[in-house]
Amino acid sequence: MNPMRLQKLVSLMKERNFDGALISPGTNLYYLTGLSIHEAGERLTVLVVGADGDYRLLAPNLYENTIMNFPVTFWRDGENPYDKLAWMLAEFHLSDGRLLIEDTMRADWLINLMRLGTFEFYPLSSLVRELRMRKDKHEIEMMGHAAKAADRVFGEILSWDLVGMRERELALKIELAIRELSDGISFEPIVAAGENGANPHHAPGDRRLRKGDMVILDYGARWKGYCSDITRTIALGKPDGRLVEIYEVVREAQENAFRAVGKGIKAGEVDRAARETIKKAGYGRYFIHRTGHGLGLDVHEEPYIGPEGNVLLENGMTFTIEPGIYIPGIGGVRIEDDVVVEGKGKRLTKAERELIRL
Ligand code: CO
Ligand code: CO
Repeated sequence: MNPMRLQKLVSLMKERNFDGALISPGTNLYYLTGLSIHEAGERLTVLVVGADGDYRLLAPNLYENTIMNFPVTFWRDGENPYDKLAWMLAEFHLSDGRLLIEDTMRADWLINLMRLGTFEFYPLSSLVRELRMRKDKHEIEMMGHAAKAADRVFGEILSWDLVGMRERELALKIELAIRELSDGISFEPIVAAGENGANPHHAPGDRRLRKGDMVILDYGARWKGYCSDITRTIALGKPDGRLVEIYEVVREAQENAFRAVGKGIKAGEVDRAARETIKKAGYGRYFIHRTGHGLGLDVHEEPYIGPEGNVLLENGMTFTIEPGIYIPGIGGVRIEDDVVVEGKGKRLTKAERELIRL
């Protein structure tokens, strides 16, 4: 546990007149306490934090042997955990007031909580995002490991016999390769062959990879909770000349956006660099998403790199740069790297970006 993080949250809470925070399992809980509690289904698990800096976890007794050296109250099956929560809230003087709530808290927990007092609820992310956006040295190191695993998997993919393979088989092979090199996948791998590449979030199906396909591969690894997220588009045989032309446009857009990254630059400027490049080449209307998203414990987090991105980039911020062009009926190209701001931008993922033809 890094006690500074919880302390920082508490001072932000005081500064903005919040009375307490209720944090259910997820990446915020992990970030603040180091507790890696998996989704416990319907069993109420919540960290109560008071504005005076006191905190206590309420958890099912299933965790009795795993949660050590942390203030915790356990409840067992058959007990009503909300009675215990009410008692804890009273102890923390939190029977009313302004409460921060973990954004992803289950609705049934929140509905039960609403009956325990007169509260005003606010999303926890509104405060924690400011802390999580700036990664420390350790976090960037973990992200570097996750990125390296993604790069190595790309090297492996290139050695496989891809022609004739189904998208879903390739996605599974990618997943296995990621799991061998890291703590697991950061999201379900995307494999989109040929015309399926026109859908940025295509779910891998039964289509076989053929000569003449451009194939989009989008996947990521997780290391000690931290995510990588890489996309490469490769050519099998000789794809449609238009797709090869598009590839060069996307590569240039990605490079221009990367070069726009710097401390003090608005996130929206990075998006603009990519968007202008694609627009000039005449494909503006086929670039249908933002240029990137923050990356860390979550695959999508702040800062978002879109046209409206108002966040000023700071050292330690990490995000993706992933422009793409998608042409219905023909296919698509996307190139995605993970980047950290260190004065200028620095790529964490380093796999080859020139078009690879197999
Ligand atoms: Co991706
Ligand atoms: Co991404």
